[in-house]
Amino acid sequence: MSKESSNSPERIPTHIAIIMDGNGRWALSRGLPRLAGHRAGTENLRRVIEACVEFDVKYLTLYAFSTENWGRPLEEVRGLMRILEDVIDRELQELHKQGVQLRHIGRLDRLKPSLHQKVLEAIEYTKDNDRLILCVAFNYGGRDEIVCAIQHMIENGVKPDEVSDELVSQYLFTAGVPDPDLIIRTSGELRGSNFLIWQGAYSEWYFTPTFWPDFGKEELARALEEYKHRQRRFGHVPESV
Ligand code: IPE
Ligand code: IPE
Ligand code: MG
Repeated sequence: MSKESSNSPERIPTHIAIIMDGNGRWALSRGLPRLAGHRAGTENLRRVIEACVEFDVKYLTLYAFSTENWGRPLEEVRGLMRILEDVIDRELQELHKQGVQLRHIGRLDRLKPSLHQKVLEAIEYTKDNDRLILCVAFNYGGRDEIVCAIQHMIENGVKPDEVSDELVSQYLFTAGVPDPDLIIRTSGELRGSNFLIWQGAYSEWYFTPTFWPDFGKEELARALEEYKHRQRRFGHVPESV
């Protein structure tokens, strides 16, 4: 997106990206297994997606599974795959009704073939919707994305002097999606964890100690309120100075 179009404090962010963190601690604090936290986290998806539609956010990117999350115990990884499958089965019709277009960023090739296929079908099914573009980052890593972009540029014979900011952006999984204006991380962790490392170069960050399953519409509204008061400078000096 052009820098000028997003620095007005009145604007709500065109693109919000969320690191949905804290499911495990949410569960442990209730004496439940971690997977119960992941299930609770998916219940919260509906609330936040509906709120984004209501607030007229155009793009929402959700970090659901990182390239590093394969390092978790096998049972948890399997549970997270099952949850993705269940969410598509349960929520696709409702998302479609709300005008949500599903996209995926990351690599699908490591998923079992039936799940891979299910994700592709959900993308195809919702491709003409335009109320909200929902990008699901699943098996996504910012570094992996850049490596993948470099590989494709080399394969396509791109010359060194043809490489530019814009060209790199076009080779990323997020090609065509404006950079996130606001990145939210729940659960109190203050780090990026390999999320949108290129696209987030000038994003505003909002951190909250709330665990993801408890991050609802009200807290999203608070984040938007805080965003309104941010002054985005993009390295420039404001005109009034
Ligand atoms: C975020 O919750 C969901 C995923 C990473 C899949 P976590 O599972 O990281 O929860 P915590 O951080 O351990 O509490
Ligand atoms: C980031 O959370 C990944 C997702 C939310 C999907 P993690 O819980 O995996 O990140 P770290 O380990 O705290 O950095
Ligand atoms: Mg975590």
